Amino acid sequence: MSSLVLDTRPLETYLAMSDEEIAERIESAREELGPKVVILGHHYQRDDVIRHADLNGDSYQLSVLASKTDAEFIVFCGVHFMAESADILGREDQRVILPDMGAGCSMADMAHIDQVEEAWEVLTEIGVVGAGSSVAPITYMNSSAAIKAFCGRHEGVVCTSSNATKLFDIYLKKFDKMFFFPDQHLGRNTGAKFGIPLDKMVVWDPHKELGGNTEEELLEAKLILWRGHCSVHGRFKDWHVDKIREDVPGVNVLVHPECIYEVVQKSDFNGSTSYIIKTVEEAAPGTKWAIGTEVNLVNRLAKRFPDKEVHLLAPDLCMCATMYRISPQSLAWAMENLTEGTIVNEISVEPETAKWANVALERMISMTEG
Ligand code: 13P
Ligand code: SF4
Repeated sequence: MSSLVLDTRPLETYLAMSDEEIAERIESAREELGPKVVILGHHYQRDDVIRHADLNGDSYQLSVLASKTDAEFIVFCGVHFMAESADILGREDQRVILPDMGAGCSMADMAHIDQVEEAWEVLTEIGVVGAGSSVAPITYMNSSAAIKAFCGRHEGVVCTSSNATKLFDIYLKKFDKMFFFPDQHLGRNTGAKFGIPLDKMVVWDPHKELGGNTEEELLEAKLILWRGHCSVHGRFKDWHVDKIREDVPGVNVLVHPECIYEVVQKSDFNGSTSYIIKTVEEAAPGTKWAIGTEVNLVNRLAKRFPDKEVHLLAPDLCMCATMYRISPQSLAWAMENLTEGTIVNEISVEPETAKWANVALERMISMTEG
């Protein structure tokens, strides 16, 4: 749920301002608000936004930061599902603001709670769920609060790309099967790390009967993967890996696990956004890297480490268009309205959903922290 409040300073007035003026306005609003506000920024944000963030991180780190900050206002420079998680994990009196409501995630939109509930019912009817078989629903952080709540109610958990392996390890020991939403690629790539054969990881297509499977396939499956994907990471193909190895001899291929299975299999390293950053940070000068993730992050790494050779795995632009919706203009608009006591674009999750989504998020944090 999100609320739109009339702004005392309309957004349009910011669109004509110069970049310098916008940056100055954000900084002076921040000074005026002091410790009452914290600006969180995901690593995929553009440079002219990330420079204003007090703290930045991947989706896991940002959720933990949101649960620990004392600030009254959390201005979230990321996408909708991240801001929802910040609202769920934050204190009741904290308010979360997403500077542009258009900053969604196409992957998160690929699984709707009604479809997930319907799929669970069908799986129950055919005896995949219940009847002596234990199935845990696990959702990637990139999903709606309602789906996180569904997982909370059914002994499931939330995971991110930085802790999926740890949580799969715990859940595969405790449950017979897992139903994983909404990113089939993260699910498959993680399942493969545990030696689960590809034919035991079936895909559930919400638009087909039995998700496009036979009853037997579903009964035999170890992992049922929702048919969702990231439109950014999905653009990297296995031939990009072959090509870069040819063009840049000695290159290390480092990719995000939202990439397709074939790309991850051909890569040298794979891991979350923070893992990618840490790997490049710790690499020796002179080493060469081809990175399969969002272009703003890759460009930032290339600038930060001129002593290392950093390439984008695919030569064509690969930007997360929804992350890009957060602009310095919308950030200035949200911040200056706050200085006047007006909260624009508040993200507020309905209490019953928040309660159960919190169960799944806290389960993730307690199982993976430290
Ligand atoms: P991280 O968990 O690496 O932050 O990924 C979030 C995301 O949206 C990647 O597409
Ligand atoms: Fe969603 Fe992909 Fe953008 Fe991440 S990069 S926010 S998964 S669309």
